[in-house]
Amino acid sequence: MESTVSALFEPYTLRSLTVPNRVWMPPMCQYSAAPEGPLTGAPTDWHLQHYGARAAGGTGLIIVEATGVSPEGRISPYDLGIWNDAQVTGLRRITDFMKSQGTVAGIQIGHAGRKASTDRPWKGGAPLGPEEHGWAAVAPSAIAFDDRHAVPAELTADGIKEIVGQFADAARRALDAGFEVVELHGAHGYLIAQFLSPHSNKRTDEYGGSYQNRTRFALEVVDAVRAVWPDELPLFFRISATDWLDGQEGWTADETVRFAAELKAHGVDLIDVSTGGNASGVRIPVGPGYQVPFAARVRNEAGVPAAAVGLITETQQAEKIIVDGEADAVLLGRELLRDPSFARHAARELGADVHVPDQYHRSV
Ligand SMILES: Cc1cc2nc3c(=O)[nH]c(=O)nc-3n(C[C@H](O)[C@H](O)[C@H](O)COP(=O)(O)O)c2cc1C
Repeated sequence: MESTVSALFEPYTLRSLTVPNRVWMPPMCQYSAAPEGPLTGAPTDWHLQHYGARAAGGTGLIIVEATGVSPEGRISPYDLGIWNDAQVTGLRRITDFMKSQGTVAGIQIGHAGRKASTDRPWKGGAPLGPEEHGWAAVAPSAIAFDDRHAVPAELTADGIKEIVGQFADAARRALDAGFEVVELHGAHGYLIAQFLSPHSNKRTDEYGGSYQNRTRFALEVVDAVRAVWPDELPLFFRISATDWLDGQEGWTADETVRFAAELKAHGVDLIDVSTGGNASGVRIPVGPGYQVPFAARVRNEAGVPAAAVGLITETQQAEKIIVDGEADAVLLGRELLRDPSFARHAARELGADVHVPDQYHRSV
Protein backbone atom coordinates (compact mmCIF):
# COMPACT_ATOMS: atom_id res chain seq x y z
CA MET A 1 0.00 0.00 0.00
CA GLU A 2 2.57 2.55 -1.08
CA SER A 3 1.41 6.13 -1.34
CA THR A 4 2.89 8.23 -4.11
CA VAL A 5 0.93 11.32 -3.19
CA SER A 6 1.99 11.85 0.39
CA ALA A 7 5.18 11.44 2.40
CA LEU A 8 3.09 11.20 5.57
CA PHE A 9 1.41 8.07 4.27
CA GLU A 10 4.55 6.34 3.00
CA PRO A 11 5.12 3.14 4.98
CA TYR A 12 8.20 3.12 7.19
CA THR A 13 10.36 0.08 7.91
CA LEU A 14 12.64 -0.40 10.91
CA ARG A 15 14.36 -3.78 11.20
CA SER A 16 11.69 -6.29 10.04
CA LEU A 17 8.73 -4.16 11.05
CA THR A 18 6.82 -1.98 8.60
CA VAL A 19 4.58 0.75 9.96
CA PRO A 20 1.82 1.61 7.46
CA ASN A 21 2.18 5.40 7.76
CA ARG A 22 4.01 8.19 9.65
CA VAL A 23 1.05 9.39 11.76
CA TRP A 24 1.79 8.00 15.20
CA MET A 25 0.36 8.37 18.68
CA PRO A 26 2.81 9.19 21.49
CA PRO A 27 2.48 7.69 24.96
CA MET A 28 -0.17 9.47 27.02
CA CYS A 29 -0.97 8.38 30.58
CA GLN A 30 -4.65 7.72 31.12
CA TYR A 31 -4.49 7.32 34.91
CA SER A 32 -7.30 4.81 34.58
CA ALA A 33 -5.97 1.57 36.09
CA ALA A 34 -6.98 0.27 39.50
CA PRO A 35 -4.65 1.50 42.28
CA GLU A 36 -5.10 -1.65 44.39
CA GLY A 37 -6.26 -5.26 44.24
CA PRO A 38 -5.37 -8.16 41.92
CA LEU A 39 -5.83 -6.01 38.80
CA THR A 40 -3.57 -3.17 39.97
CA GLY A 41 -1.91 -1.61 36.94
CA ALA A 42 -3.90 -3.73 34.48
CA PRO A 43 -5.76 -2.12 31.57
CA THR A 44 -9.48 -1.44 31.90
CA ASP A 45 -12.34 -0.93 29.44
CA TRP A 46 -11.19 2.68 29.21
CA HIS A 47 -7.86 1.63 27.74
CA LEU A 48 -9.40 -0.77 25.23
CA GLN A 49 -11.79 1.82 23.82
CA HIS A 50 -9.18 4.61 23.94
CA TYR A 51 -6.44 2.75 22.06
CA GLY A 52 -9.01 0.90 19.95
CA ALA A 53 -10.57 4.07 18.58
CA ARG A 54 -7.18 5.51 17.51
CA ALA A 55 -6.28 2.21 15.83
CA ALA A 56 -9.61 2.11 13.99
CA GLY A 57 -8.88 5.73 13.01
CA GLY A 58 -5.87 4.69 10.92
CA THR A 59 -3.00 5.65 13.26
CA GLY A 60 0.14 3.90 11.97
CA LEU A 61 1.75 3.20 15.34
CA ILE A 62 0.33 3.65 18.80
CA ILE A 63 2.70 3.83 21.76
CA VAL A 64 0.78 2.84 24.87
CA GLU A 65 1.24 5.21 27.80
CA ALA A 66 4.14 5.19 30.30
CA THR A 67 3.84 1.80 31.95
CA GLY A 68 5.63 1.10 35.21
CA VAL A 69 8.36 -1.54 35.28
CA SER A 70 7.62 -1.87 39.02
CA PRO A 71 4.97 -0.57 41.45
CA GLU A 72 7.42 2.09 42.73
CA GLY A 73 8.23 3.09 39.16
CA ARG A 74 4.73 4.36 38.41
CA ILE A 75 4.05 8.08 38.09
CA SER A 76 0.73 7.59 39.87
CA PRO A 77 -1.07 4.68 41.57
CA TYR A 78 -3.46 4.73 38.60
CA ASP A 79 -0.79 4.01 35.95
CA LEU A 80 -0.52 0.89 33.88
CA GLY A 81 2.11 -1.58 35.05
CA ILE A 82 3.95 -4.44 33.42
CA TRP A 83 5.34 -6.49 36.28
CA ASN A 84 2.78 -9.34 36.45
CA ASP A 85 0.76 -11.77 34.32
CA ALA A 86 -2.65 -10.15 34.87
CA GLN A 87 -1.28 -6.97 33.33
CA VAL A 88 0.11 -8.91 30.36
CA THR A 89 -3.27 -10.60 29.78
CA GLY A 90 -5.04 -7.25 29.73
CA LEU A 91 -2.47 -5.65 27.45
CA ARG A 92 -2.69 -8.54 24.99
CA ARG A 93 -6.35 -7.74 24.42
CA ILE A 94 -5.32 -4.22 23.38
CA THR A 95 -2.46 -5.31 21.10
CA ASP A 96 -4.72 -7.90 19.44
CA PHE A 97 -7.23 -5.20 18.65
CA MET A 98 -4.65 -2.71 17.40
CA LYS A 99 -3.17 -5.32 15.07
CA SER A 100 -6.63 -6.26 13.76
CA GLN A 101 -6.75 -2.66 12.45
CA GLY A 102 -3.28 -2.81 10.88
CA THR A 103 -1.81 -0.55 13.58
CA VAL A 104 1.61 -1.32 15.00
CA ALA A 105 1.47 -1.84 18.78
CA GLY A 106 4.10 -0.08 20.86
CA ILE A 107 4.49 0.51 24.58
CA GLN A 108 6.53 2.94 26.63
CA ILE A 109 8.13 1.35 29.69
CA GLY A 110 9.44 3.57 32.42
CA HIS A 111 10.38 4.34 35.98
CA ALA A 112 9.34 7.66 37.46
CA GLY A 113 12.15 7.98 40.03
CA ARG A 114 11.74 11.15 42.09
CA LYS A 115 8.56 12.09 40.19
CA ALA A 116 6.73 8.90 41.28
CA SER A 117 3.68 8.61 43.52
CA THR A 118 1.61 11.58 42.40
CA ASP A 119 -2.14 12.02 42.02
CA ARG A 120 -4.03 12.17 38.73
CA PRO A 121 -3.59 15.56 37.02
CA TRP A 122 -7.29 16.33 37.12
CA LYS A 123 -7.12 15.85 40.94
CA GLY A 124 -4.26 18.33 41.16
CA GLY A 125 -1.32 15.97 40.58
CA ALA A 126 0.07 16.37 44.11
CA PRO A 127 2.54 13.86 45.57
CA LEU A 128 0.64 11.18 47.51
CA GLY A 129 1.39 9.73 50.94
CA PRO A 130 1.02 6.03 51.89
CA GLU A 131 -2.56 6.56 53.10
CA GLU A 132 -3.52 7.59 49.53
CA HIS A 133 -1.90 4.61 47.74
CA GLY A 134 1.43 6.50 47.58
CA TRP A 135 4.98 5.33 48.31
CA ALA A 136 8.49 6.69 48.93
CA ALA A 137 10.42 7.61 45.78
CA VAL A 138 14.00 6.82 44.76
CA ALA A 139 16.35 8.81 42.51
CA PRO A 140 19.99 9.19 41.49
CA SER A 141 20.43 11.83 44.20
CA ALA A 142 18.45 12.91 47.26
CA ILE A 143 17.09 16.06 45.60
CA ALA A 144 13.35 16.76 45.41
CA PHE A 145 11.87 17.71 42.02
CA ASP A 146 10.22 20.80 43.53
CA ASP A 147 8.84 22.16 46.80
CA ARG A 148 5.78 19.92 46.67
CA HIS A 149 7.70 16.64 46.25
CA ALA A 150 9.35 14.72 49.09
CA VAL A 151 13.12 14.25 49.02
CA PRO A 152 13.75 10.87 47.31
CA ALA A 153 16.12 8.23 48.63
CA GLU A 154 19.41 8.02 46.73
CA LEU A 155 19.65 4.72 44.88
CA THR A 156 22.37 2.29 45.92
CA ALA A 157 24.42 0.42 43.31
CA ASP A 158 22.29 -2.68 44.04
CA GLY A 159 19.13 -0.63 43.68
CA ILE A 160 20.28 0.56 40.26
CA LYS A 161 21.04 -2.99 39.18
CA GLU A 162 17.61 -4.16 40.30
CA ILE A 163 15.88 -1.49 38.20
CA VAL A 164 17.96 -2.37 35.12
CA GLY A 165 16.69 -5.95 35.58
CA GLN A 166 13.11 -4.70 35.93
CA PHE A 167 13.36 -2.94 32.57
CA ALA A 168 14.54 -6.18 30.94
CA ASP A 169 11.69 -8.15 32.59
CA ALA A 170 9.22 -5.52 31.42
CA ALA A 171 10.48 -5.81 27.83
CA ARG A 172 10.10 -9.61 27.97
CA ARG A 173 6.53 -9.17 29.19
CA ALA A 174 5.85 -6.58 26.50
CA LEU A 175 6.79 -9.17 23.90
CA ASP A 176 4.46 -11.72 25.59
CA ALA A 177 1.73 -9.11 25.49
CA GLY A 178 2.09 -8.79 21.72
CA PHE A 179 3.91 -5.48 21.42
CA GLU A 180 6.13 -4.93 18.38
CA VAL A 181 7.87 -1.77 19.56
CA VAL A 182 9.24 -0.98 23.01
CA GLU A 183 10.04 2.61 23.87
CA LEU A 184 12.23 3.41 26.88
CA HIS A 185 11.05 6.49 28.75
CA GLY A 186 14.21 8.56 28.93
CA ALA A 187 12.40 11.92 28.87
CA HIS A 188 10.42 14.40 30.98
CA GLY A 189 12.52 14.15 34.12
CA TYR A 190 11.70 10.55 34.96
CA LEU A 191 14.36 8.18 36.27
CA ILE A 192 16.50 7.73 33.14
CA ALA A 193 16.42 11.48 32.45
CA GLN A 194 17.24 12.14 36.12
CA PHE A 195 20.47 10.20 35.64
CA LEU A 196 21.31 11.96 32.35
CA SER A 197 21.07 15.48 33.70
CA PRO A 198 23.60 17.12 36.03
CA HIS A 199 20.63 19.12 37.34
CA SER A 200 19.25 16.03 39.12
CA ASN A 201 22.29 13.75 39.22
CA LYS A 202 24.93 14.80 41.76
CA ARG A 203 26.37 11.31 42.30
CA THR A 204 30.07 10.89 42.87
CA ASP A 205 30.24 7.21 41.86
CA GLU A 206 30.43 5.80 38.31
CA TYR A 207 26.81 6.90 37.64
CA GLY A 208 27.37 10.62 38.12
CA GLY A 209 29.64 13.51 37.22
CA SER A 210 31.02 13.17 33.69
CA TYR A 211 28.84 12.79 30.58
CA GLN A 212 30.01 9.20 30.34
CA ASN A 213 28.98 8.46 33.92
CA ARG A 214 25.60 10.21 33.64
CA THR A 215 24.72 8.22 30.51
CA ARG A 216 25.82 4.89 32.05
CA PHE A 217 22.45 3.96 33.59
CA ALA A 218 20.56 4.68 30.34
CA LEU A 219 22.99 2.56 28.33
CA GLU A 220 22.78 -0.28 30.87
CA VAL A 221 19.00 -0.23 30.49
CA VAL A 222 19.29 -0.17 26.70
CA ASP A 223 21.73 -3.09 26.71
CA ALA A 224 19.59 -5.15 29.11
CA VAL A 225 16.45 -4.54 27.07
CA ARG A 226 18.17 -5.11 23.71
CA ALA A 227 19.44 -8.46 25.03
CA VAL A 228 15.86 -9.73 25.48
CA TRP A 229 14.05 -7.76 22.76
CA PRO A 230 14.06 -9.64 19.41
CA ASP A 231 16.57 -8.57 16.77
CA GLU A 232 13.82 -8.20 14.18
CA LEU A 233 11.85 -5.68 16.28
CA PRO A 234 12.71 -2.00 16.82
CA LEU A 235 13.60 -0.35 20.11
CA PHE A 236 12.80 3.35 20.63
CA PHE A 237 14.20 5.79 23.18
CA ARG A 238 12.26 8.90 24.18
CA ILE A 239 14.54 11.71 25.19
CA SER A 240 14.11 15.23 26.45
CA ALA A 241 16.56 16.91 24.12
CA THR A 242 17.09 19.79 26.54
CA ASP A 243 16.24 20.66 30.15
CA TRP A 244 15.72 24.26 28.93
CA LEU A 245 18.16 25.36 31.65
CA ASP A 246 20.03 27.73 29.36
CA GLY A 247 23.15 28.97 31.01
CA GLN A 248 22.68 26.71 34.05
CA GLU A 249 23.85 23.17 34.58
CA GLY A 250 21.51 20.82 32.71
CA TRP A 251 21.18 18.29 29.88
CA THR A 252 21.72 20.01 26.52
CA ALA A 253 20.78 19.58 22.87
CA ASP A 254 24.45 19.04 21.97
CA GLU A 255 24.60 16.16 24.45
CA THR A 256 21.43 14.76 22.89
CA VAL A 257 23.01 14.68 19.43
CA ARG A 258 26.11 12.96 20.81
CA PHE A 259 24.06 10.52 22.88
CA ALA A 260 21.72 9.65 19.98
CA ALA A 261 24.66 8.22 18.05
CA GLU A 262 25.68 6.16 21.08
CA LEU A 263 22.14 4.90 21.57
CA LYS A 264 22.11 3.79 17.96
CA ALA A 265 25.39 1.92 18.44
CA HIS A 266 23.73 0.13 21.38
CA GLY A 267 20.78 -1.02 19.28
CA VAL A 268 18.24 1.79 19.57
CA ASP A 269 16.46 2.23 16.24
CA LEU A 270 14.64 5.53 16.64
CA ILE A 271 14.74 8.49 19.01
CA ASP A 272 11.43 10.03 19.99
CA VAL A 273 12.46 13.61 20.61
CA SER A 274 10.67 15.61 23.27
CA THR A 275 12.02 18.23 25.71
CA GLY A 276 11.77 19.41 29.30
CA GLY A 277 10.27 18.00 32.47
CA ASN A 278 13.37 17.62 34.63
CA ALA A 279 13.65 21.11 36.02
CA SER A 280 10.69 22.93 37.53
CA GLY A 281 9.96 26.54 36.76
CA VAL A 282 11.83 26.81 33.44
CA ARG A 283 10.53 28.86 30.53
CA ILE A 284 9.75 26.81 27.43
CA PRO A 285 9.05 28.61 24.13
CA VAL A 286 5.93 26.59 23.35
CA GLY A 287 4.40 27.03 19.90
CA PRO A 288 3.47 25.01 16.81
CA GLY A 289 6.09 22.33 16.17
CA TYR A 290 8.43 23.85 18.76
CA GLN A 291 10.34 20.62 19.36
CA VAL A 292 10.75 19.65 15.69
CA PRO A 293 14.21 21.32 15.34
CA PHE A 294 15.55 18.99 18.04
CA ALA A 295 14.31 15.92 16.13
CA ALA A 296 15.86 17.34 12.96
CA ARG A 297 19.25 17.66 14.70
CA VAL A 298 19.10 14.03 15.86
CA ARG A 299 18.11 12.85 12.40
CA ASN A 300 20.44 15.00 10.34
CA GLU A 301 23.47 15.63 12.59
CA ALA A 302 23.63 12.28 14.42
CA GLY A 303 22.17 10.35 11.48
CA VAL A 304 19.68 8.51 13.71
CA PRO A 305 16.01 8.00 12.78
CA ALA A 306 13.87 10.43 14.75
CA ALA A 307 10.22 11.14 15.45
CA ALA A 308 8.98 14.67 16.13
CA VAL A 309 6.37 15.58 18.75
CA GLY A 310 4.83 18.67 20.28
CA LEU A 311 2.01 20.82 18.95
CA ILE A 312 1.80 19.09 15.60
CA THR A 313 -1.88 19.45 14.88
CA GLU A 314 -2.39 20.06 11.15
CA THR A 315 -2.18 17.76 8.14
CA GLN A 316 -0.03 20.06 6.01
CA GLN A 317 2.26 20.82 8.95
CA ALA A 318 2.79 17.08 9.53
CA GLU A 319 3.32 16.37 5.82
CA LYS A 320 5.91 19.16 5.56
CA ILE A 321 7.95 17.84 8.51
CA ILE A 322 8.36 14.53 6.66
CA VAL A 323 8.90 16.10 3.22
CA ASP A 324 11.54 18.46 4.62
CA GLY A 325 13.40 15.56 6.21
CA GLU A 326 13.06 16.93 9.74
CA ALA A 327 11.72 13.64 11.09
CA ASP A 328 10.86 10.13 9.95
CA ALA A 329 7.47 10.21 11.68
CA VAL A 330 5.27 12.61 13.61
CA LEU A 331 3.59 11.92 16.92
CA LEU A 332 0.32 13.70 17.63
CA GLY A 333 -0.74 13.68 21.25
CA ARG A 334 -3.53 16.02 22.18
CA GLU A 335 -4.76 16.24 18.58
CA LEU A 336 -5.42 12.50 18.65
CA LEU A 337 -7.27 12.94 21.94
CA ARG A 338 -9.50 15.44 20.14
CA ASP A 339 -9.78 13.47 16.91
CA PRO A 340 -9.22 9.68 17.05
CA SER A 341 -9.55 9.59 13.24
CA PHE A 342 -6.91 12.27 12.56
CA ALA A 343 -5.02 9.88 10.25
CA ARG A 344 -8.15 9.21 8.23
CA HIS A 345 -8.91 12.90 7.90
CA ALA A 346 -5.30 13.65 6.92
CA ALA A 347 -5.27 10.89 4.31
CA ARG A 348 -8.42 12.26 2.77
CA GLU A 349 -6.93 15.76 2.64
CA LEU A 350 -3.75 14.43 0.99
CA GLY A 351 -5.49 11.96 -1.31
CA ALA A 352 -3.67 9.02 0.28
CA ASP A 353 -4.80 5.53 1.27
CA VAL A 354 -5.37 4.62 4.89
CA HIS A 355 -6.96 1.73 6.77
CA VAL A 356 -10.72 2.04 7.19
CA PRO A 357 -12.51 -0.65 9.23
CA ASP A 358 -14.89 -2.82 7.18
CA GLN A 359 -17.68 -1.80 9.52
CA TYR A 360 -17.19 1.81 8.42
CA HIS A 361 -16.85 1.17 4.67
CA ARG A 362 -19.96 3.19 3.88
CA SER A 363 -18.29 6.28 5.28
CA VAL A 364 -15.25 6.22 2.98
C1 LIG B 1 -2.75 13.36 28.88
C2 LIG B 1 -1.29 13.28 28.55
C3 LIG B 1 -0.53 12.25 29.05
C4 LIG B 1 0.83 12.13 28.71
N1 LIG B 1 1.55 11.04 29.16
C5 LIG B 1 2.80 10.83 28.68
C6 LIG B 1 3.47 9.61 28.92
O1 LIG B 1 2.91 8.66 29.48
N2 LIG B 1 4.74 9.48 28.45
C7 LIG B 1 5.37 10.47 27.74
O2 LIG B 1 6.52 10.31 27.35
N3 LIG B 1 4.71 11.62 27.47
C8 LIG B 1 3.45 11.81 27.88
N4 LIG B 1 2.76 12.93 27.51
C9 LIG B 1 3.38 13.85 26.53
C10 LIG B 1 2.93 13.48 25.12
O3 LIG B 1 3.41 12.20 24.74
C11 LIG B 1 3.42 14.53 24.09
O4 LIG B 1 4.82 14.49 24.06
C12 LIG B 1 2.94 15.93 24.43
O5 LIG B 1 1.55 15.92 24.73
C13 LIG B 1 3.22 16.92 23.30
O6 LIG B 1 2.58 16.53 22.11
P1 LIG B 1 1.18 17.22 21.64
O7 LIG B 1 1.41 18.69 21.58
O8 LIG B 1 0.92 16.60 20.29
O9 LIG B 1 0.12 16.85 22.64
C14 LIG B 1 1.42 13.09 27.87
C15 LIG B 1 0.64 14.15 27.39
C16 LIG B 1 -0.70 14.24 27.68
C17 LIG B 1 -1.50 15.36 27.10
